[in-house]
Amino acid sequence: MSSEKITSLIRAIHDALQSSEQLDGVQQTISRLDALDLDGHRCSPLPPQIPLHFEGELKAAVEHIPASLKTVAQALSAAAPFLNWNAETDSSAGYYEAGADVGQSFLDGNLVCRLVGPGESFFFSEDLFLSLFFLKPRTLYRDHAHQASEMYFNLTGPCGFRLGDEDWVDYPGDSVIWNPPSRPHATRVYGIPFLSAVSWVSDLDSVCRVVPRDDWQGLEAQLQAG
Ligand SMILES: [Fe+2]
Repeated sequence: MSSEKITSLIRAIHDALQSSEQLDGVQQTISRLDALDLDGHRCSPLPPQIPLHFEGELKAAVEHIPASLKTVAQALSAAAPFLNWNAETDSSAGYYEAGADVGQSFLDGNLVCRLVGPGESFFFSEDLFLSLFFLKPRTLYRDHAHQASEMYFNLTGPCGFRLGDEDWVDYPGDSVIWNPPSRPHATRVYGIPFLSAVSWVSDLDSVCRVVPRDDWQGLEAQLQAG
């Protein structure tokens, strides 16, 4: 059944996160997942959905999940036919403040599957967002900030992150980032598609605002040149 596959996927993410439990946000994510009634089959009937042109790339992303996350990769493959993916194609809708300059690279390359949250998610929670977040190769996810602190559990890599005013750092598949409230962050994706389990554990109604940097166009051109 589809709900069992999605439950197994959430469990696999939960279990894999336990090795990073020392990070505050990870611990909170785990305890909020523990509080969910995953066995109660409270799966909302979201229809399976994926924009067609993403299908192959998403499959490629799953193939790049490292052996250390084999259980997550298997659960993801099993759940894949039932997931509900949405692309944010209009910066005036969704998570961003109106008119946010998120860039064409992001708009063309993002996909989100909401697993847990207060609405439009497979499981209801009023204090946890857990989503799968996909970005196409050579995408720049421009610097942005929000009141909610955020966990990125990167399933693929390497991918680059710029956290606050620090320089870019590359993170491998099976890495965890905990970004504190309101610290700007950006992501750049190289040749391997980006797939991450992302969580918020507070301020779920936060609005994302972009934080302008003067190197975006150069970075986007560099990524496109491959
Ligand atoms: Fe963010």
